[in-house]
Amino acid sequence: MSATVPAAIERTLALLDLAARPDGVAGATRHGYLDLIGGDDAPAPTGPAQRLMLTTALPAIYERWWRPALGRAVKGVLGPSMAEEHRIARLLLALSPGDGVLDVACGPGNFTREFGRTVGDTGLAVGIDASQTMLARAIGDTPEPFNNVAYVRGDAVALPFRDASFDGVCCFAALHLFDDPFTALDHFARVLTPGGRVAIFTSSTTRTLPLRLAAGAVGAGSGMRIFGTDEITGALKVRGFRDVRQRRTGLTQFVGGRKA
Ligand SMILES: C[S@@+](CC[C@H](N)C(=O)[O-])C[C@H]1O[C@@H](n2cnc3c(N)ncnc32)[C@H](O)[C@@H]1O
Repeated sequence: MSATVPAAIERTLALLDLAARPDGVAGATRHGYLDLIGGDDAPAPTGPAQRLMLTTALPAIYERWWRPALGRAVKGVLGPSMAEEHRIARLLLALSPGDGVLDVACGPGNFTREFGRTVGDTGLAVGIDASQTMLARAIGDTPEPFNNVAYVRGDAVALPFRDASFDGVCCFAALHLFDDPFTALDHFARVLTPGGRVAIFTSSTTRTLPLRLAAGAVGAGSGMRIFGTDEITGALKVRGFRDVRQRRTGLTQFVGGRKA
């Protein structure tokens, strides 16, 4: 390990596609995360919801207030709490000590940190996000030393990692924000090892008429895509996932699967 680059970032660099490796590691890591975008060249926001993620105000209130409140609104009153969401992620990802896990669109690292604890010192949890302000928060909220948790600034729709780099890929509360979610799913499949697990929490339409109307309104006002009830499960099966499971609640769905 070099003197200035945290061990987890050194380990993450080894997982990058050759073409994605930064020219100067010191410059690319000066904010504490590995910046593969540089400057303000983030993927263009897909709508108001996505634009909010790039502000400085939202990351400060995101984990404590924003995410639980918005999550409750879209999951419905009987939907899982945040603690239960963490439990669902744990269940679907089935991580063990020593595993590598990628948290796609990690925001302020609210799930990444927990994955780091689960995979332990011999494992690696990598969070990738395009927002500088979210990643700054993630760095601030992740206790040092960064031996096994690293953050990368990059595009979720064009993952910069080599094939079969991770045992688990998590993507919670973000797929519906991407400009090309199905290309993102191609990458999820590509970067997983055979037998690797995916866990997704995203939007879902519903067969109940009032909720379907609400979904249309939410989608139109926010720029978020509302997926059909079988769209994500079908897309995973087409990409070679087995044991595809789904739990729908309110205007959302949790989906898991295992790469064959
Ligand atoms: C609602 S937050 C989700 C954070 C966390 N996963 C959670 O479940 O609370 C959505 C995140 O997706 C990120 N994001 C959206 N589009 C992205 C893209 N194309 N590449 C990388 N990150 C993206 C945003 O910057 C934001 O941090």
